[in-house]
Amino acid sequence: MEASLAFCILAALLATGACLQCEVCFGLGVSCRGDLQTCAAGEDSCGVALTESTLAGIKTHSILKGCMPLSQCKASPVSVNFGQGMRTQTSFACCLGDTCRTSTITVPPANTTLNGRHCPACVAVFTDQCSEKTTQCTGDETRCVNIVETLTTGGNPVQMVMKGCASESVCAQIKLGSGTFAGISADLTTAKCTAASPRWR
Ligand SMILES: *[C@@H]1O[C@H](CO)[C@@H](O)[C@H](O)[C@H]1NC(C)=O
Repeated sequence: MEASLAFCILAALLATGACLQCEVCFGLGVSCRGDLQTCAAGEDSCGVALTESTLAGIKTHSILKGCMPLSQCKASPVSVNFGQGMRTQTSFACCLGDTCRTSTITVPPANTTLNGRHCPACVAVFTDQCSEKTTQCTGDETRCVNIVETLTTGGNPVQMVMKGCASESVCAQIKLGSGTFAGISADLTTAKCTAASPRWR
């Protein structure tokens, strides 16, 4: 943050272009409020990501706002299906300045038509392993994902594993490594994407 601020002042002095600031926040529900933060190099837009999670028929929303590469906030909605009635749908929107505070974003309904592919699926927390069950992929979910990550908020690291069917765009976005977002640091130790196999007979 301080380093990027120093970089911004330098950039301003050298007139190499404006430094972007975005509102950064994460919260349950469809809106959140946060402070402005200066974006790092390579993050050329502010963006909003709204996730709809379905668990046993109950839908909950979470929202994340912050600096993003333009390619990410322009991405089409992504869908991940963890089997056993657990799925998430995420929509993205790019925004600048005040529009980030006021923009409304919606998540399109999940396409639940089976597409003939399947993936091993399961989710577990406090571990890097879970017992897989084959789940049928739907809509545009043509990939299988296998993600192991450690999330840290306020000093308590929580390891989790997530496997399931995913749309192609998910694979374009997950990558190994660490990042911090709105006070939550995520460390992805496994991020695999493979083609979902066609259903066996
Ligand atoms: C839903 O997914 C199926 C299977 O991939 C596809 O054929 C269909 O066009 C999709 N429907 C919509 C409304 O996108």
